[in-house]
Amino acid sequence: MKLELDNFFNPKNVAVVGASSDVHKIGGDTLKNLLIHGFPGNIYPINPRATEVQGLKAYPSIKDVPNEIDLAIIIVPAKFVLSVIQDCAVKRVRSIVIITAGFKEAGKEGKKLQETLIQMSKKENIRIIGPNCQGITNQHNGLIATFGGYTARSGAIAMISQSGSVSGGIQSLGEDDRIGISKLVNLGNKVDINENDLMSYFKNDDNSRVITLYLEGFANGKEFIKIASDVSKVKPIVLLKGGRTKYGMKASLSHTSSLGGNRLIFEAASKQAGVIIADNYEELFDYSKIFSYYSQINGNNIFIIESSGGAGTLASDSIEFNGMQLTHLPDDIKEKLIPILPPLSVLDNPLDLGTAALNPEAFKSVIEINAENETIDIFLIILADPIPNAADVIKESLKKINKPIVVVYFGGFEAEKKEKLKFHEYGYPVYPSCDRAIKSIKVLYDYSKSKKKRLIFK
Ligand code: COA
Repeated sequence: MKLELDNFFNPKNVAVVGASSDVHKIGGDTLKNLLIHGFPGNIYPINPRATEVQGLKAYPSIKDVPNEIDLAIIIVPAKFVLSVIQDCAVKRVRSIVIITAGFKEAGKEGKKLQETLIQMSKKENIRIIGPNCQGITNQHNGLIATFGGYTARSGAIAMISQSGSVSGGIQSLGEDDRIGISKLVNLGNKVDINENDLMSYFKNDDNSRVITLYLEGFANGKEFIKIASDVSKVKPIVLLKGGRTKYGMKASLSHTSSLGGNRLIFEAASKQAGVIIADNYEELFDYSKIFSYYSQINGNNIFIIESSGGAGTLASDSIEFNGMQLTHLPDDIKEKLIPILPPLSVLDNPLDLGTAALNPEAFKSVIEINAENETIDIFLIILADPIPNAADVIKESLKKINKPIVVVYFGGFEAEKKEKLKFHEYGYPVYPSCDRAIKSIKVLYDYSKSKKKRLIFK
């Protein structure tokens, strides 16, 4: 299976069947994406009505291409798909992504078409992603074989999605924070390759630190739990399940013809398998974000350094609601803090820098004093005012800390936009609220604990 899936993500020769010169068509946009993002392999446009497409020589059929084809992307109207598959079989193409819609999700005729497609691909030993999908990417080699606004930013999030909009949305949120993905697969109708195959593949993918899933239905629930139990011992899996309510199920039935099962049973089983459940789209991104920076945390003792008493109060509430701890500062540390804080400051956790916070040097000094403080498992730095140059001033002190550091930045107006990007660039995740940060830290903590336990009892 690994080698077969490698063909999808690391092909040398790719054919785009239905490639168009019109970049407003899906076949045109997909070809354009492959070209502009620097995919280093050979690209062969297939189009019976053109001799050249977007500056490349075009071939009337995949059978006419002079080289072997490792991967074919099919973007022709549904009624032509079977004949293209037949041509692929003759050409011995073994890996195909079908973007075309009009299969099981499209009623009786589509269902019949899908059944024939399955029979044909099995007979010809062809592996398929899709149909009715948005394509795939490997962000680390420029294989952006999809349409829409996907960028080529590379990162550590492996995304498997049953919706192009959800995966596109996650990539877009990541773009705002300069966080990239490693590989993306839009599953579509899952006639062959499904989330279980891909989780197994991403388990051993060095570029992927976290597997992020948006699913509306499971290809095989039992298999999912079995594979997830194994994969989550190596890297975290974050899952958002769409169609958990009566209304949601109805919507997912017409979207991907998926049937949702019992929500509570699936959630309990998933949690037992070490899968992290996101309740919504924001959580899916937030949890994937923390895991793209950190793989584990040693304990749940948080130390908060903040510029605002209000933010500290909100963070403290969230810490207690989420079953985390505020660490107690040892006396020797408190004494070292006295000279750098304004008179009458409360030496506690959260540590409110008060008026001193407007100068980021104060953050730097507090961080350095606590660099060796063993009571701390994670630092939470809350900048709840515009504090220009904070990232540049404190970055050297952050390097002295060998524990996870999470930043919350809000209420910072223009300074916040710039500073947020710098923190991300220097390697620290930034959240727009205390609650979102602490929930993400909690998930990191729970995962670390359950991973240890499951490794011990393996
Ligand atoms: N082999 C190769 N190329 C072929 C072909 C064949 N057998 N039959 C047609 N083509 C070419 C066409 O000539 C055209 O190129 P041109 O622009 O140079 O003329 C190109 O393929 C596209 O065909 P066209 O008939 O213009 O279709 P289209 O672009 O309007 O739509 C799909 C094609 C696949 C995009 C459409 O059928 C579809 O499925 N859309 C929905 C996709 C979707 O939503 N997927 C799920 C996303 S989450």
